[in-house]
Amino acid sequence: MDHSKYNDNNDNNNNEQPNTFASIPERDYVNTVGHASVGSDVDLAWLRQLYLPKVSPEKTILEDGTVQYHMQRSYPAIRQLSPAKRERILVTGGAGFVGSHLVDRLMWMGHEVIVLDNFFTGSKRNVQHWIGHPHFELVSHDVVDPFMIEVSQIYHLACPASPPHYQYNPTKTVKTSVMGTINMLGLAKRTKARFLLTSTSEIYGDPEEHPQKETYWGHVNPIGPRACYDEGKRIAETLTYSYMRQNDVDVRVARIFNTLGPRMSPADGRVVSNFIMQAIKGEPLTLYGDGDQTRSFQYVHDLVDGLILLMNKNFMEPVNLGNTEEYTIKDFAYMIRDQVLTSPVPTPVNEVEIKILPAAMDDPKKRKPDISRAKKYLGWEPRFAVKQGLQETVDWFKLQVAEGAI
Ligand SMILES: NC(=O)c1ccc[n+]([C@@H]2O[C@H](COP(=O)([O-])OP(=O)(O)OC[C@H]3O[C@@H](n4cnc5c(N)ncnc54)[C@H](O)[C@@H]3O)[C@@H](O)[C@H]2O)c1
Repeated sequence: MDHSKYNDNNDNNNNEQPNTFASIPERDYVNTVGHASVGSDVDLAWLRQLYLPKVSPEKTILEDGTVQYHMQRSYPAIRQLSPAKRERILVTGGAGFVGSHLVDRLMWMGHEVIVLDNFFTGSKRNVQHWIGHPHFELVSHDVVDPFMIEVSQIYHLACPASPPHYQYNPTKTVKTSVMGTINMLGLAKRTKARFLLTSTSEIYGDPEEHPQKETYWGHVNPIGPRACYDEGKRIAETLTYSYMRQNDVDVRVARIFNTLGPRMSPADGRVVSNFIMQAIKGEPLTLYGDGDQTRSFQYVHDLVDGLILLMNKNFMEPVNLGNTEEYTIKDFAYMIRDQVLTSPVPTPVNEVEIKILPAAMDDPKKRKPDISRAKKYLGWEPRFAVKQGLQETVDWFKLQVAEGAI
């Protein structure tokens, strides 16, 4: 594939570029993602270019050393879709980590996308490359309040997703899950839009079944510090299926397992961003508990494929989306340390220590998806190995730090 055609928006940019993904040697890895059957197939290089312009806007350095940044004025190339095939799609939480990648892919596919976000954990920067595009609209709105619009599909992602974010204001987290989901289901009911809820593996709690199938009902502490999120998502699922039974809303539910990738928040308190940021700064990697808890991480582009496939297939039961490659947290610590130290983006440190701390409350010991349903009904399974997703994430974090963007 000829990538140069996607870079025509940078024609006028003759300023020096800092390290970018372009400077990272091609690895012997997966280089395309998506499914041609739904038009979501795309070259990884096209997606990568979207993470970069926002941290490397065209800039002029004045004689006194002052840096002036210029707004981006043109857009990444997208696929042409006939108006008859073009969906009008609402993405709540579209300025967040997962949402912004979903927006990128839907834009790439040629659809019209409206993002609704209150910017609690999301950021305009994540979608700034689309602002002003005729197919794109960004609306500052809290899903706790009703919202009216005509759309044909709703991806409902709006909800803080990491412990420090959802525990910051637990009551608001519950309101977001309950009232936000009621509002979006009400909208789906009125407009006859198809509705997709991004639920979570957290609804399984600290699972007694391993790996977790969609038929498992979970083991959740209803009054613990994670309950505002776990129970909030459980009731969001209940609401989704109530609207399906009572009001014929066409629903989809994705149960998302841990995901990593560019645009993750460095302050989300999750193990991956914690380890990466600690390693980049040369601080010890903090391991909570014995480090034998296991986790699986999928690369965000795989998740986006799964979400788009689910939305476009005729399958209404919950579907797990996650990577089955399982690692202990300890393994992750070593892998991240090595990747940070050997990444082609330069590192100021050459040694990183690993430090053991007491276990966090209600931290699940094991978490691994059973994805046979996704394989059977969506034809989906992750394409990226954990190692590649992690390496790309490490490179992105390092570029952000080098740019002073995080
Ligand atoms: N990232 C993961 O590993 C993961 C795992 C399981 C489930 N999920 C689910 O995927 C979705 C997206 O997660 P993410 O990782 O991108 O999180 P994120 O925090 O990056 O994105 C959430 C977005 O929702 C917005 N938001 C929050 N509350 C809102 C409100 N009341 N009104 C409007 N907008 C609001 C935030 O500003 C942000 O842009 C969430 O529903 C989350 O529960 C994510």
